[in-house]
Amino acid sequence: MRKAFYGRCAPRFFVLRIILASALTAYASLLSARSVDTGRHRVIAAEIIVLPAPHTAGSMSLEEALHRRDSVREFLGTPMSLEDVSQLLWAAQGITHDDQLRTAPSAGALYPLELYLVGGDVLNLPAGIYRYLPQRHRLEVIRRGDFRADLAAAAMHQDWLKDSAAILVFAAVEERTTAKYGSRGRAYVHAEAGHAAQNVLLQAVALGLGGTPVGAFDDEWSAQVLDLPAEEKILYLVPIGKPR
Ligand SMILES: Cc1cc2nc3c(=O)[nH]c(=O)nc-3n(C[C@H](O)[C@H](O)[C@H](O)COP(=O)(O)O)c2cc1C
Repeated sequence: MRKAFYGRCAPRFFVLRIILASALTAYASLLSARSVDTGRHRVIAAEIIVLPAPHTAGSMSLEEALHRRDSVREFLGTPMSLEDVSQLLWAAQGITHDDQLRTAPSAGALYPLELYLVGGDVLNLPAGIYRYLPQRHRLEVIRRGDFRADLAAAAMHQDWLKDSAAILVFAAVEERTTAKYGSRGRAYVHAEAGHAAQNVLLQAVALGLGGTPVGAFDDEWSAQVLDLPAEEKILYLVPIGKPR
């Protein structure tokens, strides 16, 4: 009797369970997509932008890029392509190996750097602040709007920053490195920002672009512009654009 009862109801119950489980899974993924806690800023409805795949070969030699590099502070005001943005971000922190190693070295492969793009004049990319996601080579929207002038003001009113097409911002979670290396880890983190920024500057030259590493900025003010989580500290700004 009991067997007959289960035998009759089990398929229907099974289908019901599958429907219920799928609905719960869909709801859970919807929730996680709509509310991503990234520390100080809570991104409601996280928007992800897929970047074009980066190139791993180019037409300018490393020697020529080194020879040509200089600090560029005057820009033509022409927009930058999304391909160029993708290439610059990859040069800074892109994944190059199956074991997740990146274009720039990192003490203990602990990767304390977080990279942001303050985009203002990029084709097919609305002005805004974006976080680079190296593992997926994607951008996560942090804030919508043009914040280049705000960041220029926070950078001791270096107004020329706002004329760049976009500003790459290197922030760091020092704890990722100091947890292993103690106070000496701080120097490692700063060295890593230098490695990554130089990659960007040389990549910019190879793309016919230019930029300048900027270290003069107000820590608190610039962190506020980017709405950074409390544990992240900005180390470097790198405005990039087409040289005049
Ligand atoms: C750590 C560091 C911080 C810098 N900060 C600024 C800055 O805030 N503003 C600026 O215009 N240039 C800045 N620069 C760029 C230097 O002024 C520039 O590299 C130097 O004048 C040498 O010129 P070159 O880059 O054309 O070779 C900085 C460079 C470094 C390495």
